[in-house]
Amino acid sequence: MKAVAQAPAKAIITGEHFVVHGSLALAAAVEQVVRVEVQDSKHLEFGAQSQLRRSSFLRPSVDIVKRMARKFGFSPMFMINIKSEVPTGAGLGSSAAVMVALTSAISEYESLHLGAREIIEEAMVGERSVHGRPSGIDAAVSGLGGVLLYRRDVEPRRITFGGRRKFVIVLSGRSRRTKRLIQKVTQFRADFPGLYSGLADSVSEMGESAVERLVSGDMEGLGRLLTLNHAALKTIGVSTPQLDEMVDHLLSLGCYGAKLTGAGGGGSVLAVVPEGKEKSIISEVKERGLEAFVSVIPVEGVRSWQEP
Ligand code: PMV
Repeated sequence: MKAVAQAPAKAIITGEHFVVHGSLALAAAVEQVVRVEVQDSKHLEFGAQSQLRRSSFLRPSVDIVKRMARKFGFSPMFMINIKSEVPTGAGLGSSAAVMVALTSAISEYESLHLGAREIIEEAMVGERSVHGRPSGIDAAVSGLGGVLLYRRDVEPRRITFGGRRKFVIVLSGRSRRTKRLIQKVTQFRADFPGLYSGLADSVSEMGESAVERLVSGDMEGLGRLLTLNHAALKTIGVSTPQLDEMVDHLLSLGCYGAKLTGAGGGGSVLAVVPEGKEKSIISEVKERGLEAFVSVIPVEGVRSWQEP
């Protein structure tokens, strides 16, 4: 028997970094997924095609397996294969998607019947060892799917709207470590507490306004909020000249707004694009040698099933 689970990546629409210190953030599950397969073996092993073997997710994944084995009383004798469409270090929550899909696949294999909230809680064990002090937004979005207005240690608010909304995601091609960038922001907050707190309040306000625009379908207004949020992220030192240039380029192409998404320092840029202009904007971006794709939201959260 094989247990399979699939979890989506995420894109933060507003509020990354500030969410680590208690501000509101808005994030959506995106179409790129991580798929984890768990099947019989004589001992715990990671299969040959598992991308995990080469990544920094190996140790946290082993931590999750061992903790679940202790907590739920099973011996972890299975082979784990992980296949990911989510580029690592791209600000799209690849580590959380791996941890959530892994937890869910183990739950399916061991018939633990864990619900999304319990899966997120177990997955956070791995997330903490990757990122240090994550807000939990990545795992929450991967687990629950859809669009969430999130505040640390508070039940996330699911945002619903009729129809679907399109975004464009552009990869900078530069990978970076989230943990280091979180430390940089923590230092900024200690150095400039007054300035930080003003920015943090504004960013929470951007999250609330972004919800209104997203729900009403005012994509132009939503875009403006993204660009404002990029300015706040630049102020706290997590943007780069390349990301600023990507944002400016996207705006010059007629996007309603754009910002870095995720931890910054490289990673990706998220843009709100006028209806019907997605393809032409993506081909302009690709001419500069960058990868880009459209993401349509909402997308469902983690799910698991069995295969013979
Ligand atoms: O770049 P990613 O996918 O690791 O996203 C990190 C988001 C942060 O807000 C910077 C960290 C967090 O835990 O919320």
